[in-house]
Amino acid sequence: MSYDVVIIGGGPGGYNCAIRAGQLGLKTAIIESRGKLGGTCLNVGCIPSKALLHASEYYEAARKTFPSMGVKVEGLSLDLPQMLKQKNEAVDGLTKGVEFLMKKNKVDYVKGMGRIAGKGRVEVTAEDGGKQVLEAKNIVIATGSVPAGLPGIEIDEERIVSSTGALDLQEVPKKLMVIGAGVIGLELGSVWRRLGAEVTVVEFLDRITPGMDGEVSTVLQRVLKKQGMTFELGQKVTAVEKTGDSLQVSIEPAKGGQDRILEADVVLVAIGRKPFTANLGLEGAGVRTDQRGFIETDHHRTSAEGIYAIGDCTHGLMLAHKAEEEGITVAQIIAGQWGHVNYDIIPSVVYTDPEVAGVGKTEEELKAAGVEYKVGKFPMMANSRARTNHQPDGMVKVLEDVATKRVVGAHMIGAGVGEMIGEICVAMEFGASAEDIARTCHAHPTMSEAIREAAKGVDGWLMQA
Ligand code: FAD
Ligand code: NAI
Repeated sequence: MSYDVVIIGGGPGGYNCAIRAGQLGLKTAIIESRGKLGGTCLNVGCIPSKALLHASEYYEAARKTFPSMGVKVEGLSLDLPQMLKQKNEAVDGLTKGVEFLMKKNKVDYVKGMGRIAGKGRVEVTAEDGGKQVLEAKNIVIATGSVPAGLPGIEIDEERIVSSTGALDLQEVPKKLMVIGAGVIGLELGSVWRRLGAEVTVVEFLDRITPGMDGEVSTVLQRVLKKQGMTFELGQKVTAVEKTGDSLQVSIEPAKGGQDRILEADVVLVAIGRKPFTANLGLEGAGVRTDQRGFIETDHHRTSAEGIYAIGDCTHGLMLAHKAEEEGITVAQIIAGQWGHVNYDIIPSVVYTDPEVAGVGKTEEELKAAGVEYKVGKFPMMANSRARTNHQPDGMVKVLEDVATKRVVGAHMIGAGVGEMIGEICVAMEFGASAEDIARTCHAHPTMSEAIREAAKGVDGWLMQA
């Protein structure tokens, strides 16, 4: 078969590239090896983790918040098999939805492992070993990423788990040890803590969520601690030993010093992810990678003509919507249209409770770059809706570049802020100043009024606090 575009990998990068390519009239095929479309995101990432976060949040609210709102619950108990089942149903429904979208846009879905087998040729090996070759004018590599491991610590996905195993534990562990205070550690740590586990998070650095605005990160840590999560910062795990039913975890200060042994039933290794490019035939095809295996690109083009790379397997934030953005852009470029990703406006959300959301530059980045900026802040405690809903933790911060008078970043923590960050993204895309946001009428009473207030704060006319 001969195609305009052959995409290797059916995650958010690959399937969005396929949909857009199909819409633009390109003859397109997508190759996926896991038997289901949707990639990490739909199968073992964004979607199953959010299904468990949502359900466990309800469970905790029913235990802890309902009584104060006058809702009495008797005989409340956890039905973990049902919680896992509804998560799996969400995944199944959405992966089937992606398959439907392939058909709708006339994209051929080829099941199997793809490998670049020469210029314009992709060989696909099916599960039964059968092989076929697809001819392609353009190849898009969208093979994503897999969890990074720790030397000497073998992941069995039952007691020592990656995020994949942590999404499918059949029992609530009594003690869960999380290695890495990044997004996965805090989200999945929150799930199991809400369901009853004692959660300890061991982090190499002396702060959680590196890369996040420092002030927001400090608030997040304080809130998570108040909820019962224990943090061991500036510590590294050196070994995990299985003894009977328990795991003996050796940790020592990152800067060196006396080690300690902590006990756990389950250990979650969440120290980042690495690109998945094994057996892709990159070398033979002349596609260059960096030392860590990420595919090097220039405006999404690899070092080999006619081969593009998008999403987690190349540089940048490892986020589904970043992969999607690149997928759309590459499809447009291949179709001879305009294509551009604005890397300054890729939002990040951590789906803990409260949520954390940020976009653009952090204060730390602006200081390091020597940019003169103004900041406006507003505490959720002073937002009428947050207080009324018993969700007063958090704040909103808006950052404006003094020279350009444009908003260059916003960082927030609070209930549901993941839905609020889109407002800032749109404002930034339109080159808004803080005053533009401050003079835009926001509905009352809503959490989004906190954004308006923080924006007023940039020019010194905060009204509600
Ligand atoms: P992937 O989604 O990894 O898809 C790549 C696909 O390619 C895979 O299905 C793989 O099987 C297939 N493949 C690989 N090699 C081959 C080959 N040779 N032939 C055929 N197929 C191949 N991001 C967010 O934005 N929001 C979130 O809330 C979020 N939550 C997450 C939670 C967890 C627990 C994890 C692990 C990740 C989460 N992410 C989240 C990150 C997000 O999942 C990734 O950034 C996103 O999936 C990357 O998309 P991608 O298309 O580049 O790669
Ligand atoms: P991460 O990069 O977010 O965090 C890893 C953490 O582990 C860091 O704090 C790091 O300092 C620490 N660490 C590294 N080595 C360590 C060691 N040896 N001992 C102790 N700590 C160590 O990676 P994470 O959480 O694994 O997530 C992977 C990717 O998945 C992220 O890049 C993220 O973008 C994506 N993701 C996104 C989500 C979202 O958007 N809500 C949710 C979950 C994952």
